[in-house]
Amino acid sequence: MYIPSWPCLTSSQLHFRESQRPLPFPLEAASRKYFYVARNGIYHLFRALGLASHESVLVPDYHSGNETSAMRAAGVNIRFYPIRRDLQPDFDALERLCGPETRALYVIHFMGWPQPMHGLLEFCRARGLLLIEDCALSFLSEFEGRPLGSFGDYAVFCLYKTLPIPNGAVLLQNRGHLRTLEDFETLNPKRISVLSRSSELLLESFRSRFPRAGAMLAGIKAAAGSTLTALSIERERVGNIGFDLDKVDTGMSSLCHWLLPRFNYELIRNQRRANFQWLDERLRGKVNLLPLSLADGVCPLFLPILVEDKKAVAADLTRRGIGVVELWNEGDPEANGPDSEDALFLRRHVLELPIHQNVSEAQLDYIAREVTRRVRSTVRLRVPSPAPVAAEEPMSAREPVSLRAGPC
Ligand SMILES: Cc1ncc(COP(=O)(O)O)c(C=O)c1O
Repeated sequence: MYIPSWPCLTSSQLHFRESQRPLPFPLEAASRKYFYVARNGIYHLFRALGLASHESVLVPDYHSGNETSAMRAAGVNIRFYPIRRDLQPDFDALERLCGPETRALYVIHFMGWPQPMHGLLEFCRARGLLLIEDCALSFLSEFEGRPLGSFGDYAVFCLYKTLPIPNGAVLLQNRGHLRTLEDFETLNPKRISVLSRSSELLLESFRSRFPRAGAMLAGIKAAAGSTLTALSIERERVGNIGFDLDKVDTGMSSLCHWLLPRFNYELIRNQRRANFQWLDERLRGKVNLLPLSLADGVCPLFLPILVEDKKAVAADLTRRGIGVVELWNEGDPEANGPDSEDALFLRRHVLELPIHQNVSEAQLDYIAREVTRRVRSTVRLRVPSPAPVAAEEPMSAREPVSLRAGPC
């Protein structure tokens, strides 16, 4: 078996004619700009906001590090606020940390699940703060029937994490339109960058069907990549590759602009939900899961589990062909203090299992079997008593969705 970590490119999800249906939010929103990766958009947003040197932004201490690097490169003073083990913000700490110099609240919707938007909107409104939503992990997700990214003044989305496209991100301005952002022209990425990542997406699809032959081809592809690097052939990359100021003006490729109107978004969201639900039911009671349930409108990115020895379990499952993802082993060095104990717990113990639209029922079955066999439920999750705002969130209703058979 080989189960890719991320969605891969298959003809079954693509229409060769543009879909007549409206595109999902924010792909038709009025004031949007496409970037190669979301961190480029984050950098340009903060540059355009032009915060004064004494002003600061409240940022969750559980984050990838790529978004904080982009903010730091744009000269932002960051104050980290704690995220608890149930992925909810600590409102008491937010109150304490917010001062007259605070200009904005940066919110990350983790793995597709909405943050408590009523409480956060009220928090910003009462203090005159800008609200910036990071939807890098939550494209296609909704909260109470409204798309994530439509609540804040600004929002950033990463498209290539949910869709099988070689690059792509959106920066959205809902309010307070910034002229410099609107006038800013992005640069085209290099063709070799787009070609290289697109061939990986096709290869992942092939490998999912034919694991042995696919592994051989992946080896050849990796060697070709190393040769390009040895020849100093510069490429734009996606994924966990840090922040590169030299490539910060790069926009989304024309191939992605061509692909976006051709996906069946409803199918993608339903399939992710169905896969999550199926695997969640199989693993519940056997391994430790985060306290997440599939409320209406959530489009899950992964199924997160808690493991004692994350490195060892990740290596073991990867060896068995399961494309687990380790979000996020490290973050900004300043978010490591005693207040960040829960974020550090999440970094040490949360491992993400693939449930994307290309994972077939047979593959889910294999993941469930391997994970229950290999992961002992030894990590105890201390879930804090729910804060009043968290209680506002409907987190239960599950809609039945059918499973599609067949791999990628
Ligand atoms: C929460 C979050 N925000 C922003 C980013 C940046 O996304 P991108 O890879 O598109 O630059 C990432 C991932 O790196 C992320 O996890």
